Amino acid sequence: MPETSLLSQINPPHRLLMGPGPINADPRVLRAMSSQLVGQYDPAMTGYMNEVMALYREVFRTRNRWTLLVDGTSRAGIEAVLVSAIRPGDKVLVPVFGRFGHLLCEIARRCRAEVHTIEAPWGEVFTPDQIEDAIRRVKPRLLLTVQGDTSTTMLQPLEHLGEICRRHGVLFYTDATASLGGNVLDTDRWGLDAVSAGLQKCLGGPSGSSPVTLSEAMVSAIGARRRVEEGIRTDAHQDGDEEMIGSNYFDLGMIMDYWGPERLNHHTEATSMLFAARECARIMVEEGMDALIARHALHGRAMLNGIRGMGLEVFGDVNHKMNNVLGVVIPAGVHGEEVRRRLLEDFHIEIGTSFGPLAGKIWRIGTMGYNARKDCVLQTLTALEAVLNRQGFATVQGAAMQAAWDTYEG
Ligand SMILES: Cc1ncc(COP(=O)(O)O)c(C=O)c1O
Repeated sequence: MPETSLLSQINPPHRLLMGPGPINADPRVLRAMSSQLVGQYDPAMTGYMNEVMALYREVFRTRNRWTLLVDGTSRAGIEAVLVSAIRPGDKVLVPVFGRFGHLLCEIARRCRAEVHTIEAPWGEVFTPDQIEDAIRRVKPRLLLTVQGDTSTTMLQPLEHLGEICRRHGVLFYTDATASLGGNVLDTDRWGLDAVSAGLQKCLGGPSGSSPVTLSEAMVSAIGARRRVEEGIRTDAHQDGDEEMIGSNYFDLGMIMDYWGPERLNHHTEATSMLFAARECARIMVEEGMDALIARHALHGRAMLNGIRGMGLEVFGDVNHKMNNVLGVVIPAGVHGEEVRRRLLEDFHIEIGTSFGPLAGKIWRIGTMGYNARKDCVLQTLTALEAVLNRQGFATVQGAAMQAAWDTYEG
């Protein structure tokens, strides 16, 4: 007989998730996910797939036909783009300014790329000139960037890189998992060839679906490696000339065939996640992308001012931080993990820790998606101040709250 706890229904505690993601999902997204399933080729389902493509074109600000979902977390979207685009032996350039740049290198190596990096200290970003110099030197086929590296909270400016890539004949990819929806991302105007993201940050959903958009140039690079599986291929199907993509599940050629008019069978689309992704996009588009980004900027600013009002130091180059995540230097004498434990246990508020060179040095506080709200900012500041005071860190009572309020009312 199993233990009773094994048989009790899941009933997670109510938390306010103010870390670097995941954050609390918008209740409308949770409701969409609880909708009953429909068959994979039901016209209702294929209709939803087409709507998802149209909605995410708005979110990514693109006219790219191939704008779709990769089933899996954000890492699935990254891996799908990289394994589909990188041919063994291709040179790639990765500007690394945090943990997620290292992730791109690691995935690219598994795709058997020749990986070249330039590195910026954690807390800083690159100038376009630094990246162009490296492109001149390395002559890569692809530039792989992270727009917002959650590990450091920094936002790499991308707007000039597309033009540089075009001049040097380089394909341009960015991982916008942490930044999309909270910061400007202009796929077409910035000349991006591929962007991937996830739902669990500014998009206000759970992790488990990765929206991806691909330019014509990227689609033709992938098309050159096209294969259609035995068992479903017909005489009408033509293979590409180049080496087959080294993954079946993440073969974007086959995923496009599934999302396209032929509806060639590949995986069984994760229906409940598609409902979630559609609702995330619907909510964002209804609010308007500019308004959504402005909301993230406002609440991010209020959190920043509140934290400074508390006498705490902010991590990194503030002029290049994402709107939606803030690095806070853990003051000397304060036990960072003890603060997080008390916030969680006594206030049910989660803030983030960090990793690599920043482990134990900064907390990361998110104001994103459904939680980019005044009440979440004020609650978090109040609780954090109380916990810090309890640990003997003196603050000017109420100054943090007043600084945040001033941001809203100033
Ligand atoms: C910038 C960035 N890229 C990739 C990932 C990986 O995302 P996932 O955990 O959804 O696979 C994350 C997760 O935090 C991230 O912040």
